[in-house]
Amino acid sequence: MGVEVVVEGLTKSFGKQTIWRDVTLTLPPGEVSVMLGPSGTGKSVFLKSLVGLLKPEQGKIVINGVDLVRCSEHKLYEIRKLFGVLFQDGALFGSMNLFDNVAFPLREHTRKTEAEVRRIVLEKMEMVGLVGAEKKLPGEISGGMRKRAGLARALVLDPEIILCDEPDSGLDPVRTAYLSQLLIDLNSQIDATILIVTHNITVARTVPDNLGMLFRRELVMFGPREVLLTSDEPVVEQFLNGRRIGPIGMSEEKDQATMAAELAHREAGHSDGSPDEDVRGVVPQLEPTPGLPPRGAVRRRKDRVMTILHTLPPEAQQSIIASLTPEEQRHYRVMAGAGDRTGPIAVDPTTPSPWPRQGGVL
Ligand SMILES: Nc1ncnc2c1ncn2[C@@H]1O[C@H](COP(=O)(O)OP(=O)(O)OP(=O)(O)O)[C@@H](O)[C@H]1O
Ligand SMILES: [Mg+2]
Repeated sequence: MGVEVVVEGLTKSFGKQTIWRDVTLTLPPGEVSVMLGPSGTGKSVFLKSLVGLLKPEQGKIVINGVDLVRCSEHKLYEIRKLFGVLFQDGALFGSMNLFDNVAFPLREHTRKTEAEVRRIVLEKMEMVGLVGAEKKLPGEISGGMRKRAGLARALVLDPEIILCDEPDSGLDPVRTAYLSQLLIDLNSQIDATILIVTHNITVARTVPDNLGMLFRRELVMFGPREVLLTSDEPVVEQFLNGRRIGPIGMSEEKDQATMAAELAHREAGHSDGSPDEDVRGVVPQLEPTPGLPPRGAVRRRKDRVMTILHTLPPEAQQSIIASLTPEEQRHYRVMAGAGDRTGPIAVDPTTPSPWPRQGGVL
């Protein structure tokens, strides 16, 4: 099973510029999480910090009992082997063909024979739809193909933690749908802990178990998908609906006067160029392709989420309860010591809404 990644009070600056501060969240083992956030909010910096390529000034990143922020180079090297990372730019070696790029981690970190290397590389290249492109150089292929080659390379060492920085950027909608399915299928097959950074709303709505968002140098929220998908926090709503109206502006932040003027303009019946219908709410999550094993994360997440159910906002509780079968409802009610009655589990209306900023931490 994938490993848990615990982030506590993490702060990262470059010189005087604070990128984000006091970020606290836990990536539950084997679950899929998505991190959202407007351009420039430090999502890539966050992923690079998680693999130890950048050093935060404060806080901890704990994996298998090791704090990556403070451990020795040797320990860091060991922990890094658990990771498969797809960087935002693909980070391929320009002078190597795709085969050699994808084979690189295997040749560097294992003693596998060339025949084994070949088998693994071709398997991963097939997985991402790059069969026949082995001899091409990164400069000769499209951006989307480079992304997929980077993903194949991130997978060759059977990682326990997979980080993907905008795996869908540069892909057409059909390929993005395939990629979403690929990530879910991967999770069902190897049960790795996965963190995806994306701007794609459909991916954010349908792929992850957990969702988080960075904005204004802070983690706005991180928690079970139902929490963000039902949230009425303005920045979360604006982002998940791709609306122009809201706290997020072209240069990340807007002032109050601009926001008020925009709202008045729209309320007077003018279009703001955003989709007409808001798509708030929880949509079904992608399931593994028929024939693959069920995702272990689903069961574990249900148990986990049910133990924190009454700390979640009422809308999220409602949605989680509605997703349970009658048998599951009975099971969890008995577990909570609420007796073996029939009927749905009750929503606790008194829980804080909006969901506290660091509510994902348990
Ligand atoms: N090595 C570095 N040195 C100095 N500043 C950096 C460095 N890397 C990133 N930054 C700054 O950190 C901020 C966050 O950058 P980052 O690339 O993490 O944003 P992002 O959320 O990934 O944006 P996008 O969605 O456009 O990819 C930016 O202001 C960037 O200029
Ligand atoms: Mg980025």
